[in-house]
Amino acid sequence: MDDRNRVIPQEELALQQDYADRVRQLYRARLPRQPLACVVTFGCQQNEADSELIRGMLADMGFGMTDDEERADLLIFNTCAIREHAEMRVFGNVGQTSHYKKANPDVMICVCGCMPQQPRVAETIKKSYPYVDIVFGTHALYKFPQLLYRRLTEKKRIFDISGDERGVILEGVRSVRKEGPSAWLSIMYGCNNFCTYCIVPYVRGRERSRSPEAVLEELRSLAARGYRDITLLGQNVNSYGLDQQGYPDFAELLERCNAVEGDFRIRFMTSHPKDASEKLFDTMAKCGKVCHSIHLPVQCGSDRVLKAMNRRYDTKRYLELVDYARKVMPDLTITSDIIVGFPGETEAEFEETLALLERVRFDSLFTFIYSRRPGTLAAEMPDPVTREEKQRRFDRLLEVQNRISREINAGYVGKTETVLIDGLSDDPNYDLTARTAGFKLVHLRGDRGLIGQYARAEIDRSSTWALFGKVK
Ligand code: SAH
Ligand code: SF4
Ligand code: F3S
Repeated sequence: MDDRNRVIPQEELALQQDYADRVRQLYRARLPRQPLACVVTFGCQQNEADSELIRGMLADMGFGMTDDEERADLLIFNTCAIREHAEMRVFGNVGQTSHYKKANPDVMICVCGCMPQQPRVAETIKKSYPYVDIVFGTHALYKFPQLLYRRLTEKKRIFDISGDERGVILEGVRSVRKEGPSAWLSIMYGCNNFCTYCIVPYVRGRERSRSPEAVLEELRSLAARGYRDITLLGQNVNSYGLDQQGYPDFAELLERCNAVEGDFRIRFMTSHPKDASEKLFDTMAKCGKVCHSIHLPVQCGSDRVLKAMNRRYDTKRYLELVDYARKVMPDLTITSDIIVGFPGETEAEFEETLALLERVRFDSLFTFIYSRRPGTLAAEMPDPVTREEKQRRFDRLLEVQNRISREINAGYVGKTETVLIDGLSDDPNYDLTARTAGFKLVHLRGDRGLIGQYARAEIDRSSTWALFGKVK
């Protein structure tokens, strides 16, 4: 328990505001037009929420936004370190920027987020990507204006991966959110769980909860501005409040959020099964704004592997939770994450994962082949199974899940669901996309003026990934 206030002090934010003004002036002197910034985001919703804060800081520095990398005066890559593939993609993208730099040496390239928070990666960028101007980690996010100011005035590359792993809480920086009726709302940062495969606790620091007052105030403001689908974010929302004396627990926070006035839906992610509780499910069941939908990553169906992963629940407990949740919310949708090929996973253990899929029947899954992350405990475990064998297991897993998703979705045909219309469909046969309360994607025929509103949707067709129909 740590009661020290880790919120960034007002004076520090005022200092950053001061740097933002100076950056604005520098660009005004440099360019005859408004400078443009392009933010490219990799990784999870936490990173998306951080990119919204970055856009807020950019707006304060006088930047306009563009999605076109080649038009940007400032390019920011907000990066993810979760799997090797994610890191390779980032390096590929950053490599491209050497061309932009050649065409225009004044272009600023910035790499931030989870990747450079690993000293090994920051070192690689320093050595092998000399055209990257600014590098900072997750803990230095709020210092972005100062770092940019220094790069513009000191004429040397800026690296800042400092920061105490206990981490800080950022309040009072505005988010510039994506268009549409949905919004992320961070309720806590960091992770204490140290699952043996995972890099997140190393790059995001320890768990720290925002105060319930700060969360509720932001929620009220989002509701007042017309957001209709609000997702409470954290790596492990179920341990919300446990790091501070006197804070409500997550179920209590949900109840308070539910009491905020307005016509909106509440979701949350991610839930760790070890801290999910019957109390949480009872709360979800009785709170009208809370969607009956949960992302509850199980990772695998073998108790031996779960132990080696340091997940701290077994399949028996997981199934108990799922059964209870479905008892109190018969319309609950459940999604999950699965890792195949964790070091030492045997064929028989993999079969246990398939059996769990058949038993639970998840609505959909995010599936991953284990990726070795240097510095984690699992990276030191013997891993004799070949890549080909892991790929084969992965393909079998997908086949099983795709059939289950298809069967579940087929059950919606003929039904009418309340959906939130959130955008335009890219399917030429449909006009709109929408989400059910269970977060199922629906392609709809209907009036484009309905975006941002709730509607009743008649479902007349389904696939593995989506539902189809028309606005009633
Ligand atoms: N905090 C969330 C997950 C964040 S990472 C939770 O605990 O549920 C999202 C998913 O990426 C994880 O659930 C896991 O399935 C996957 N993942 C994490 N590290 C991985 C690794 N080293 N290799 C493969 N998949 C990984
Ligand atoms: Fe990673 Fe585990 Fe933390 Fe999720 S709970 S972020 S998988 S260490
Ligand atoms: Fe990736 Fe960082 Fe999220 S490693 S998954 S962006 S917390």
